[in-house]
Amino acid sequence: MHPPSSQSLQIFLDVASEAAQAAGGILRDRWGQLQSIEEKGRAGDLVTEADKEAETAILAILERHFPDHAFLAEESGLLAQPRSDYLWAIDPLDGTTNYAHGYAIAAVSIGLLFDGQPWVGVVYNPFTNELFRAAKGLGATCDRRPLQVSATLNLGQSLLVTGFAYDRRETTDNNYAEFCYLTHLTQGVRRSGSAALDLASVAAGRLDGYWERGLSLWDIAAGIVLVQEAGGLVSAYDGSAFKLESGRILATNGKIHQSLSQALQKTALLPWSPILP
Ligand code: IPD
Ligand code: CA
Ligand code: CA
Repeated sequence: MHPPSSQSLQIFLDVASEAAQAAGGILRDRWGQLQSIEEKGRAGDLVTEADKEAETAILAILERHFPDHAFLAEESGLLAQPRSDYLWAIDPLDGTTNYAHGYAIAAVSIGLLFDGQPWVGVVYNPFTNELFRAAKGLGATCDRRPLQVSATLNLGQSLLVTGFAYDRRETTDNNYAEFCYLTHLTQGVRRSGSAALDLASVAAGRLDGYWERGLSLWDIAAGIVLVQEAGGLVSAYDGSAFKLESGRILATNGKIHQSLSQALQKTALLPWSPILP
């Protein structure tokens, strides 16, 4: 099993970009005129016809170009080719809650894993028309301009972002303690509602760090490549190697990685209560 050549990576990037932009066009067309907003099991976990139509468009393009690859798409599940080393992780609309409420922060996220590791990532913001792209060894760009993580050296000067999973009402591992603690230690902690845009923002140096738990592969596969190729670090909360199946990620500009990791470990698994520094 040979790793993909630079030429193959370019093709993957171009096809993923085409698919992300096609899906983004659908999200713009459906904006403000949704016919159906359903809950998918967990309270607050929404799906709309825009999610489904955007996903159908992405799968049609990717399957046409790469019929022997496997696909994991949020609304369709796993469409597997058992012998493929390639798995596409697709979130047609990351930020559905925002989108359904008419709050314009959402993105299309398309990642490609080779041998279980993210190699290619495309995140498209249909509202700003920004296209974030990255592939292993080829760097990261936004609208063809190179991306670089921020130069912020310490938590006190940092602006962070996080999120809260749909199971937050059912577990004490709900990120509330971490959110309070980091809010005290930093210039702020944002909650955008789109994990893909959170990672793209760290890659672009607009935010210094991001952490979250309860994530799925389609939320983060693309953004991980963006952060790594923009010079940032991705790990588990404790700084050890990141495990995709854990759904728990820490991604930073690298310089604040250790201090953010230490702060997260201090609060980990505590039920919500404000802990002042
Ligand atoms: C959600 C967003 C949100 C994160 C949730 C995700 P969705 O994805 O990425 O930022 O906090 O954990 O599930 O449901 O909008 O595709
Ligand atoms: Ca998502
Ligand atoms: Ca989604």
